[in-house]
Amino acid sequence: MILQPTDSYHTPVLLSEVLDGLRIRFGAKYIDATLGGGGYAFAIAENGGKVLGVDRDNDALKWVSERLEKDKLENGVKGRIVLSKGNFGNLGSTAKEADFNKVDGIVFDLGMSTHQLESSGRGFSFRKTGEPLDMRMDINTDKTAAYILNSYPKEKLYEIFSKYAEELNSGAIASAIVLARAIKPIVNVGQLVDIVSISLHRRLENKYSEQKINNSLARIFQSLRIEVNGEMKNLVNGLSQAIDLLSPKGRLCIVSYHSLEDRLVKIFFRKNSREKRLNIVTKRPITVKTSEFKINKRSRSGKLRIAEKV
Ligand SMILES: C[S@@+](CC[C@H](N)C(=O)[O-])C[C@H]1O[C@@H](n2cnc3c(N)ncnc32)[C@H](O)[C@@H]1O
Repeated sequence: MILQPTDSYHTPVLLSEVLDGLRIRFGAKYIDATLGGGGYAFAIAENGGKVLGVDRDNDALKWVSERLEKDKLENGVKGRIVLSKGNFGNLGSTAKEADFNKVDGIVFDLGMSTHQLESSGRGFSFRKTGEPLDMRMDINTDKTAAYILNSYPKEKLYEIFSKYAEELNSGAIASAIVLARAIKPIVNVGQLVDIVSISLHRRLENKYSEQKINNSLARIFQSLRIEVNGEMKNLVNGLSQAIDLLSPKGRLCIVSYHSLEDRLVKIFFRKNSREKRLNIVTKRPITVKTSEFKINKRSRSGKLRIAEKV
């Protein structure tokens, strides 16, 4: 039986596909590099695996430790989950410290949890207009979204919006931010929403639909989150360390949610397949079925790629 989370922290995406991909065996070791609400970690442990759950967000670790305390766990599930605070960009050292240095499977579920988006109070969503523009997954790091918006040169803001979000109006939005911050520092979500919306309305003479504005806002917020958390660099580092941590035939499962991440994973798999370090299991990514999407709208863009260590 697979334990389903009984809470609202996060609904795991492509859960049974990830479990199949990891090929869970009793007593084998796995790493969940992005613990979140523990959806994957609990399911791996329930199926007999030992799991190291890593997350850089204290909220995730607190949530899962409380879940471990209060759930009525049978068959030693609790003893099979070990938690560690860490950035998967340093997965090698985190895993070695926890004695998970030769493992049978590693999963990365990229992006953010529903808790971070909806209730962390850290300004990840453009709909939470009263929240501060923080966006740090690990609140012990120093660069917030507000810091970036108020201090980066216009050219750098343009680069972030176009590179991480492929936003077509990056130039106009970067210019509007630089003008606005000269009058008053940009510190909360509502201010940024107004700046972006007004600049798009001006640019397109009020012909922009609300849906299009929301799409641009979602892209701008995504790109800031990626920059604040160094997501692309961490992913590159985490993936290459993951190969070294896997035993031969160990599986690597990556769930991504936007084209930039998926492209990076695809290129990484291909390169390591050419160099005979990985065998690609999924020639094309596994996508979310309509039945899952119907009950979890946030799963829509999820894509799973699986590779096996040679
Ligand atoms: C999509 S959620 C994972 C949800 C989880 N699979 C579940 O079923 O509950 C992504 C999690 O990865 C964490 N995360 C993102 N980047 C990270 C990094 N570089 N190192 C460690 N954790 C990270 C986030 O804090 C978040 O909790």
